[in-house]
Amino acid sequence: MGKLVFDHSQEEVEVADGEPIATACEEAGVPFACTEGVCGTCVVEVVDGMSNLSPFTQEEKDFLGDQDKERLACQCKMRSGTVKLKF
Ligand code: FES
Repeated sequence: MGKLVFDHSQEEVEVADGEPIATACEEAGVPFACTEGVCGTCVVEVVDGMSNLSPFTQEEKDFLGDQDKERLACQCKMRSGTVKLKF
C-alpha cells in the first residue's frame, strides 16, 4: 500500500500498489479534464518520492518534456511507499 501526501493540507490518502493516483488526486482537489495525458490540466509537482510512482508515460514525456519534478496525475500509478505532491 502506498500513500499520497498533499503538501498544502498535509492530507494523507492511501493508494493500493499498482493503482492509478487519479481518483485520490481528484478528491484532494487536483483539476482534471482529458484524463488522457494530453491537456496538462492535472499537472502536479512531486515534492518527494518520485521513484515511488510508475515510469513516465509517452504522453507525459510529450507534454512535460525533459524534466523530473512534474507529473500528469491522470497518468501515474502508485508503486509503493510515500509520494508527496504539490498542486
Ligand atoms: S487530465 Fe488532461 S493531462 Fe491529465
